[in-house]
Amino acid sequence: MSHLFEAIPFVKNELYEKIITDIGAQKFCIIDDFFTSDEVVKLRESLMIRFEEDAFRKSAIGNKTNEVIKQAVRGDLIFWIDEQIGNAAEQLFFKKINDLKDYLNRTCFMGIGHKEFHYAIYPKGTFYKRHLDTFQNDDRRKLSFVCYLNSENWQAENGGELVLYLDKEDKFIYPFPGKVVIFESQIIEHEVKPVNTQRLSITGWLKTH
Ligand code: OGA
Ligand code: MN
Repeated sequence: MSHLFEAIPFVKNELYEKIITDIGAQKFCIIDDFFTSDEVVKLRESLMIRFEEDAFRKSAIGNKTNEVIKQAVRGDLIFWIDEQIGNAAEQLFFKKINDLKDYLNRTCFMGIGHKEFHYAIYPKGTFYKRHLDTFQNDDRRKLSFVCYLNSENWQAENGGELVLYLDKEDKFIYPFPGKVVIFESQIIEHEVKPVNTQRLSITGWLKTH
């Protein structure tokens, strides 16, 4: 009898298995070298090109907040990345994200059908106060994903730590280049401490729809 369809072989991926185990156990996972230094350089260059094109906009915190309130909550500038028209670095970024998403859907039945990612620049002196990544009446965001694009010589003293507020102790994470932090959007409250030096990243969400 001939094959009606060919099953896609399942290849176990150690990194993705670690992500699944960590998120299962502690609701977050930190991967120091999710992106290589070469990939970080290319993504940082893409971010800077968008910035020079004047494509970044002030971030928002909901729909009816005024500018004064907003600046007291978060001060980053963002640019949403379009997967369809992305350059080579952005295509590569989405390939890695899609790979991870497919693996999660296949092994954990997470039902992730949608995603959204933006570049973020935190100018000197800005921060993002303690918050949860889900909006009222919207629970589509399942996993938050942050990837740091700072330069190789980023110093801990530059500030801009991501703080995860956990049950037992708070977790301080330094935004070193190539590092990725993934956490459950609906559970983990977090904050970005003030930066003394411009801080660069990509932030995004894996969503149900
Ligand atoms: C966000 C956020 C964390 C970070 O953009 O919602 O919490 O470390 N970012 O940049
Ligand atoms: Mn957040």
